[in-house]
Parts: sequence; structure tokens; C-alpha cells
Amino acid sequence: MWRDLAPVGRSATSGGYFRQPWTAAESELRAWFAEQCAARGLTVQTDGIGNQVAWWRPDGEPAAPGVLTGSHLDSVLDGGAYDGPLGVVSALAAVDELRERGFTPSRPIGVGTFVEEEGSRFGLACLGSRLVTGATSWETARELRDRDGVFLADAVTDAGLEPDTGLLGLDDVGCFVELHVEQGRDLVDREAAVGVASRIWPHGRFRFDFAGEANHAGTTRMEDRRDPMLTFAATTLAADEGARLTHERATFGRVRVEPNGTNAVPSRVTAWLDARAASEEALQSLVDDVSRRAGDRAGHDGTTVTVTAESVSGSVAFDPELASRLSALGRSPDGGTDGWPVIPTQAGHDAGILSAAGVPTAMLFVRNPTGVSHSPAERAETADCLAGVTALADVLADLAR
Ligand code: GLV
Ligand code: MN
Ligand code: MN
Ligand code: MN
Repeated sequence: MWRDLAPVGRSATSGGYFRQPWTAAESELRAWFAEQCAARGLTVQTDGIGNQVAWWRPDGEPAAPGVLTGSHLDSVLDGGAYDGPLGVVSALAAVDELRERGFTPSRPIGVGTFVEEEGSRFGLACLGSRLVTGATSWETARELRDRDGVFLADAVTDAGLEPDTGLLGLDDVGCFVELHVEQGRDLVDREAAVGVASRIWPHGRFRFDFAGEANHAGTTRMEDRRDPMLTFAATTLAADEGARLTHERATFGRVRVEPNGTNAVPSRVTAWLDARAASEEALQSLVDDVSRRAGDRAGHDGTTVTVTAESVSGSVAFDPELASRLSALGRSPDGGTDGWPVIPTQAGHDAGILSAAGVPTAMLFVRNPTGVSHSPAERAETADCLAGVTALADVLADLAR
């Protein structure tokens, strides 16, 4: 399975992945998922925006809410191989493992994928799960535009989907378990191949619009400039300083400069702050602090700055009973039952959106030896991935018995 996925959307130069939603690469992955389900005798339902689910239903049993597992197939720009696809491949592999064990579920087990988890095309992370849970409405989502000005509604229909046919329902979903590569180094420190998520830090995306005055790079005296790039540069330093002081996270990873010419002082800089903190109050105070310092610096530079919150995700505490039930299933390589460590994460996930919508939800993490993610350097050892599949199979067997 893994080998089928390796070339899809891969950059020949960086080795990273460009699997933006509703592009050819992502459509190929959707088709691949449907084929994998069909090969297991499972019928995939694809909703109007490209979320997918296939249910393994117990024979002759009355319908009952099932256990859904899966993740996403899209990537950030120049992303790693594991963020998302590991959870999807592991879901299919766990079904195979359960069948090899001769397990027959007494509740349905679903494998699924959510579309545009990374928000790498339309800016809103976890868009598929947000639409399914109603956290975002289709009326709002359809008007979002990508960097080329394409409306989301057009991107979806151009990909051959029909948004009017509706979205996946959550009525069949009794609980959701997402397996994911770990995106930090907590499991390395704990020497564990697998871990369980306790919570997700609150996080958000904030757009900073810096405006100044375009002018000649040669003839404009330094003291006569109103350069928004300077205000932006000082703001990134302020964000870094603020986040370091409080052990939070602040990143300016996306910038647009106008007119973007070497020999002109820019007229505008638009930059997006990704901010994350341990509590909602701490997140707010981090963003307020960066905004205040940006404003002070703008006064000094003769520029202006406005800050807009584009999306904010609140703190998510995963179902504690489910987390301790999962953790207790942990097996050490010698067969002992040490339990898996329970750790928080600073990354957003569809599991967080489902949890916030009231679905009992849990996450399993697979150790990442470098801790690097959202980069082509993301890694997971094969042995740890296999341990993850066994862990997920154990969890599904426990929840669907
Ligand atoms: C998604 O992966 C995020 O946390 O940005
Ligand atoms: Mn990601
Ligand atoms: Mn992910
Ligand atoms: Mn994510």
C-alpha cells in the first residue's frame, strides 16, 4: 500500500509532497482509497466534497453506531510522507490484521478520510471535518478562495464532486480513533513506539496586513521611507521573543509582498501568524502582545498594521475514559503490558474537530525519530509503524467487540 502512495504528488526536487485538496494528486489518492476498500469488500461512500468512509459491518447485526478510524490524505506544501496517510494506511492494515486474527466485530468498523485537513489550499485547516460537524457552514466555505483566486465551490466541482449531494453523516459514528505520526519528540524521550493523545493545544491563524508606501530602492533616502517590510520583520522577532518567554509557539510561515520587486520599497506585506498555546487565555495574550508590538513598530516606521483572526480552534480535551482505555492496551515488545504514554499535542487534527462536536474521540501517535513534521524530512521507522497498526487493531478489537 505504502509503495502505491509514494510517487503521488511528490516533488522531484525536494522529495516532499504537494497533495493539495481537489487537485489531480488528491483525486488520485481518493481513487486509490476507494480501490483499497473495494479490494477488502468494503464499499466506499464519497460525500459531496470528497470526505470518504467505508464500513465493515457485522453480518446480520442490527445497525449500531460504529467505530470510525482514519485520517487525511492531503499534505501541507512540501510535506512529509506520513502526516495523514499513515493513519489511513494503518486503518486499512488494522482491518487486515483483525481479519487475519479471525475477529468479527459486533459493531461496525469504519475506515475514512477527511478532505483539506491541512488548510494548505484554502487556509482553513480541518475543512472536511468542520463541514461534516457543522463547525463551518458550506455557505462560508464555498466563498473561500485559493492563492490563484479560485473559489472553493469551483475547485470541488472541477474535481468531479457534487457538493449538492450532501456531506457524510455522523449518525453512524459512535466514536473516532485517529492514528497519526507524532509531530514532536515526546515519544522519543519516553522511548515508546506508540502513545495516546490527551489533548490538543488551542491554536489559530491570524493575518497581519502591513501597509506603507512603494518607492524607489535607490533614490529614496532611508529616513524618507515608510517600509512595511521593516514592521513585519520587527513583528516576527517580537512573536519569536514572546513565544519563547512563555514556552508557546508563534510562526510566520507565509508572507506575501507587494509589488515584490527587488528595486522597490514594498507597499504592502501580508503575513500569517500561526500561534499556539497551552490555554485559550495564553493564546489570546500571545496574539495581543504580538499585535501591540506590531502596532508600536508601525508607529515608528510610518506604516499601519491590521490584524484579522482567520481561524481559531479552542482547546480540545480528548475523551479521558477512552484515552485511559487505549493507554491500558499498551504492550511492550516482550509482551508485557506497560501501557502507552499519554501525551498532549500542539498540532491540529480532524480528531480535535470531531471531539469538539461531542464525538468520543481518541488519538494514537506513532514515534517520529526526528520529531520533524510538515517537511520532507518527516520520518517514522517501519517497526514503529507496524507497532502502530497492531495498537490500532487492538483498540478497534476492544471498542468493536
Ligand atoms: C495541522 O497539521 C496543524 O496542526 O497545523
Ligand atoms: Mn499536518
Ligand atoms: Mn495530519
Ligand atoms: Mn494536522
